[in-house]
Amino acid sequence: MPSYDLIVIGTGPGGYVCAIRAAQLGMKVAVVEKEKTFGGTCLNIGCIPSKAMLHTSELFDEAGHAFAKMGIKVGTPALDLPAMLRFKDEGVEGNVKGVAFLFRKNKIEAHNGVGRIAAPGKVEVTAARGPSTVLEAKAIVIATGSDVAQLQGITIDEKRIVSSTGALSLEKVPRHLLVVGAGVIGLELGSVWRRLGAQVTVVEFLDRILPGIDTEVARQFHRILEKQGIGFKLASKVAAIDSNDLMLKVTIEPVAGGTAFDLDADVALVAIGRVPYTEGLGLEAIGLKLDNRGRIPVDGRFATSVPGIYAIGDVIAGPMLAHKAEDEGIAVAEIIAGKAGHVNYDVIPNVIYTSPEVASVGKTEEELRAADVTYNVGKFPFTANGRAKANQQTDGFVKILADARTDRVLGVHIVGSDAGNMIAEAAIAMEFGAAAEDIARTCHAHPTLPEAVKEAALAVDKRAIHM
Ligand code: FAD
Ligand code: NAI
Repeated sequence: MPSYDLIVIGTGPGGYVCAIRAAQLGMKVAVVEKEKTFGGTCLNIGCIPSKAMLHTSELFDEAGHAFAKMGIKVGTPALDLPAMLRFKDEGVEGNVKGVAFLFRKNKIEAHNGVGRIAAPGKVEVTAARGPSTVLEAKAIVIATGSDVAQLQGITIDEKRIVSSTGALSLEKVPRHLLVVGAGVIGLELGSVWRRLGAQVTVVEFLDRILPGIDTEVARQFHRILEKQGIGFKLASKVAAIDSNDLMLKVTIEPVAGGTAFDLDADVALVAIGRVPYTEGLGLEAIGLKLDNRGRIPVDGRFATSVPGIYAIGDVIAGPMLAHKAEDEGIAVAEIIAGKAGHVNYDVIPNVIYTSPEVASVGKTEEELRAADVTYNVGKFPFTANGRAKANQQTDGFVKILADARTDRVLGVHIVGSDAGNMIAEAAIAMEFGAAAEDIARTCHAHPTLPEAVKEAALAVDKRAIHM
């Protein structure tokens, strides 16, 4: 029976990073993956293909609407959707091949098939064809990720009623795309198809978009998306989708009660969240119980209730983000190797890759108020930033929340072009326990968008220069 120090089940960003770090630390490592390619949701059907489509559709939109104003004459751009989808697939292929290369480089043995934990220290791998094999290890890390949350009574066929997976490969631009859920997927993929020519309507259960994001940021972003032409039906739910005709008939009901109405759409995207994935792992048989949301409970060292079995990533509590899964993968490998692995959950950045982008790290104003923390706010709009004005990309602002007593930065929230790159500066500052004053006194290159971060830090002390 093949024997290892560590077996990792699942090769998403949590699993593959964990395997590499464990191999670096001298462990003999195997990974088990049920899909044909490595990289999990993120590389195959998540972060990577969605960012490729956001990139290409943004350029398409700019070519059609912004180039002429900049003095670039290209005529009306024509969409070659099959080529755009190929470009996306090539990006995915490059990434998943990269993981296979890293496994070889680090002498990690990969086993294809569904992994089931037959007993602590034993994983049975069942491939699509051929007999199953049993592997042995001192430690097992479960990194099986998450799957699409289903809308009750509505069947996803990935053609007309799609999840994010189908929405990343539509063969035709829908005339009307109805999105259920104004969360990250709904707004990112809604933006993609709006830019490619679809009418987009987003139906959201709550009375706001992006729950969890700072309310002021979400409000401004909502206005920007409406200006771009995305329609919203807030405080509404989809009661039924009738797919008997050529067009889908979507019945929408106000959450508070009242008259339902129908909308016609050619494609409906269900994006109401994701759920932890533990199917086929055989957890019940080994006495490992899930929590009330289907997640695997772990302690501060990622250990489950069964000795020798750990869990990380989307399958445990916390934000369902690739970089959170990666950091947990590194931490758990270090813990298993007897080192001090650690993840700082107070400083996990969150980025929505729309145009403009939305990025945040740390606490929102609502969270600080709920925790009775007194704080100062420093805000700076991109309308007053030289580079943003030069590029005519002035939507949005930077907001810094700092402790009123100590000036320590507690949260940074940005709506604006390139916000996703700018938030890294805030994360580093917070990781080092910086005060707003520290950011304010750091020399920022001119002319750059991050100067708005410095100005927001100055604004905490009411001394922004360009405002
Ligand atoms: P996953 O990536 O889900 O990987 C789990 C792996 O385990 C899969 O390969 C699965 O096949 C395998 N597996 C499951 N069960 C078994 C079994 N029994 N045996 C063998 N293998 C098994 N996050 C970001 O941070 N940034 C983004 O821009 C971003 N964009 C996204 C866009 C979309 C459309 C979606 C859907 C998600 C996006 N995410 C993004 C979220 C991100 O993809 C996840 O947080 C991340 O993939 C979680 O990593 P993971 O390793 O926990 O699990
Ligand atoms: P989400 O949790 O971000 O948003 C779901 C939205 O659907 C919420 O606004 C919720 O109120 C709403 N909703 C729930 N039930 C509803 C119903 N019945 N009718 C109408 N609205 C309903 O989930 P989403 O967008 O599906 O994304 C899943 C996960 O993937 C997220 O948790 C996110 O962490 C991750 N992701 C991250 C990305 C990034 O980092 N850029 C990009 C895409 C996904």
